[in-house]
Amino acid sequence: ASERPQQSGAAPILVASNRGPVSFRTEDDGSLTLRRGGGGLVSGLSAIDDPNAVWVCAALSDADRTAARQAPDGRLDLAGHDVGGQAVRMLDIDPEAFARAYNGVANSTLWFVHHLLYQTPVQPAFDAGFRTEWAAYRAYNAAFAEALAAEAAPGAAVLVQDYHLSLAPALLRALRPDLRIGHFSHTPWAPPEYYRLLPDDVAAAVLEGILGADRAAFLTRRWALAFADCCEAVLGAEVDRSALTVTHGGRTTRLGVHGLGADAEFLRERAHRPDVDERLAALREAVGERRTIVRVDRTELSKNIVRGLLAYRHLLRTRPEWLGNVVHIAFAYPSRTDLAEYRDYTAAVQRVAEEINTEFGTADWQPLILHVNDDFPRSLAAYRLADVALVNPIRDGMNLVAKEVPVVSDHGCALVLSREAGAYAELADDAITVNPYDVIATADALAEALAMPPAERTERTKRLAAAATALPPQQWFLDQLHAL
Ligand code: G6P
Repeated sequence: ASERPQQSGAAPILVASNRGPVSFRTEDDGSLTLRRGGGGLVSGLSAIDDPNAVWVCAALSDADRTAARQAPDGRLDLAGHDVGGQAVRMLDIDPEAFARAYNGVANSTLWFVHHLLYQTPVQPAFDAGFRTEWAAYRAYNAAFAEALAAEAAPGAAVLVQDYHLSLAPALLRALRPDLRIGHFSHTPWAPPEYYRLLPDDVAAAVLEGILGADRAAFLTRRWALAFADCCEAVLGAEVDRSALTVTHGGRTTRLGVHGLGADAEFLRERAHRPDVDERLAALREAVGERRTIVRVDRTELSKNIVRGLLAYRHLLRTRPEWLGNVVHIAFAYPSRTDLAEYRDYTAAVQRVAEEINTEFGTADWQPLILHVNDDFPRSLAAYRLADVALVNPIRDGMNLVAKEVPVVSDHGCALVLSREAGAYAELADDAITVNPYDVIATADALAEALAMPPAERTERTKRLAAAATALPPQQWFLDQLHAL
């Protein structure tokens, strides 16, 4: 029973995530306009047609904060916007504290740990600055726990998302032991020897925070088992690997695996609207009869864009038959630009891209087309056009591009896929798989993909699309809810 009785709210189902389903922009005249976000979670939640469901998220910009402040009871007024049935509560967190939690802990520490991104001779260095960030991260998680506790009806189901909110499950349980709490990690999970780079108290707090949930779910079995390994190594927890349970401090948390799939219905409809057709025509015009290798990513360290470009360069250097006959279309749109590592990485991507065009470009052939601004319809157009899709992350929770391309492809597309992407578990049979660090092997894989006979490509694409859509977002979401 609760020692601290707390007024409960009316929501039977709640979702919590850092990035919410909508964002705001301040227009020149000072007015706010609203944009709906994409992604699996937004589609997934559309399976719930409950007007009392509540999505709690953070205000990410000044425009968001203004909107949150204007909202009665913190609830945004979404009437007239096509953003699904649920109410959205945006937390107005002090911008500096937010930046410490989001940039400092979530994106520079936990993201780096789970994706193995540190240059370990110099990074990480957990100093006094980190401790300030860690305090902000704890307060940020507490703010979510309090908002969820206030909104949740007795016995409600709460689905907490990702590494931004790893402490919230335990904090929420302390406030509202009546709730059913799930946590979902959209990232990989680090192996124990790497996870232990974290200060001991931080390493333990993150695991114990997630173990505060009744169920902790992951995109693949590999990441679920890595989490269990960390619980055992760091906390001395009791782990049952076949039952997928972790017992610690007298409580047992169940682990779950839900491999989020592509939203075929949405993608196929969206990919055939006039704005996509227009962009497809423009891309066709640019590439002519040549073959295309396509990649679409956030400019994200873990996506391995630079090695992908180096592999393309190696292909052109060693296989002259492709000179003038292939175009690499690379979309690398801005992400997390508050972090110096990401700005440097963006510069490195642009530098290598220029080098390639300088080395091989001719009057009538631009070997590489790099676009750095986000344009979803243009990405869909590239998916439709691609002969080869390159998905070569160093490490990735799932990677939905690998699943979306086969669904949207017009004439079949060969997939070059990193064995370190979560999607590998489901797509390996019909992809050409690579070690993402091996530039030459990646170039070989690109050559094999370019040379794949059309009939084989079509067959493989069909099977890839079937595997990629096995668990559509709506079902993914419902499965988690039912398992709670
Ligand atoms: C990954 C994370 C998400 C995050 C997204 C974009 O997919 O798992 O939680 O929202 O990256 O990153 P951003 O920092 O822009 O929200």
